[in-house]
Amino acid sequence: MNKMNRFFKSVLLAVGLGVSGSMLAAPAKAVVVIEAELQDWSFGGIFGRYDKNQLQRGFQVFQQSCAACHGAKQISFRNLSEEGGPAFSESQVKALAAEYTIIDPELEEGERPATPADNWPDPFPTIKDARAANNGAVPPDFSVLAKARGISQKFPAWALNYFTGYQEGGADYIYNLLVNFKDAPEGVDVLPGQYWNAYYGGTLAMASPLFDGMIDYEGDFPETVEQYALDVAAFMMWMAEPQLNSRKQMGFQVLVFLFVLTGLMIAVKRKLWSKVEH
Ligand code: HEC
Repeated sequence: MNKMNRFFKSVLLAVGLGVSGSMLAAPAKAVVVIEAELQDWSFGGIFGRYDKNQLQRGFQVFQQSCAACHGAKQISFRNLSEEGGPAFSESQVKALAAEYTIIDPELEEGERPATPADNWPDPFPTIKDARAANNGAVPPDFSVLAKARGISQKFPAWALNYFTGYQEGGADYIYNLLVNFKDAPEGVDVLPGQYWNAYYGGTLAMASPLFDGMIDYEGDFPETVEQYALDVAAFMMWMAEPQLNSRKQMGFQVLVFLFVLTGLMIAVKRKLWSKVEH
């Protein structure tokens, strides 16, 4: 018995030492991952709505920077003129589509100008081409990317989200990623074709796609990386969830309906029980 005990003790000791040893030996992450700075989005909260002008600016950023590498397969040109989205006029969308070419091997010429019914054309003909142009990485399609990313929060912040209705994690992720391309901290080796991002807490195969002044905005909007990042993040959120406006409106109407129904039920209950002794 004693022997057994000693045996278990030494096994435990060995396991314990092994675990703590491996914790010490684990390559310490040289960086403190910075927390996301949450932005004040027009589409946040129960009454949130997309801001059409912001979506139009965001489209401009997408078209003039991101679309060189990222596709948006699920979006047709026509979607850009829909209510609740950037809502460009139909003639603007027609003119925009005509600037793009659709490759179609079934046609005699092999290609034709795009029409509003076409989906946004991919920037690279094949995945292989995408990889070759981007150091082996494939730029992800934007159609639903804003919904596929989110920020990580500590307790109690995430628990409060149930009450505040916070659903803008995707947009906050994209904004924070875009404004945090920095020089790598000392001691961190960055491979060729990789770029350090302080929010990502590591390197990725995309260099900062934005710099101050690169896109001309109409009106008085700052032409800064921060503003471009906000606008393109909002646009990507719209691409991923074009029905947000009507979803939030319906949610509010349901709340009003339930409120009125509760009032009616109380009145009915009072009336029915008014003649019963109790
Ligand atoms: C020169 C090509 C290029 C341009 C321009 C570009 N990207 Fe990228 N992007 C990439 C590549 C390549 C990746 C994949 C990176 C990886 O996996 O390491 C990527 C990845 C991303 C990701 C995903 C990061 C993650 O969480 O995995 C986001 C978000 C993104 N890009 C946003 C943008 C936005 C917004 C723009 C325009 C303002 C843009 N990109 C412009 C090449 C580009």
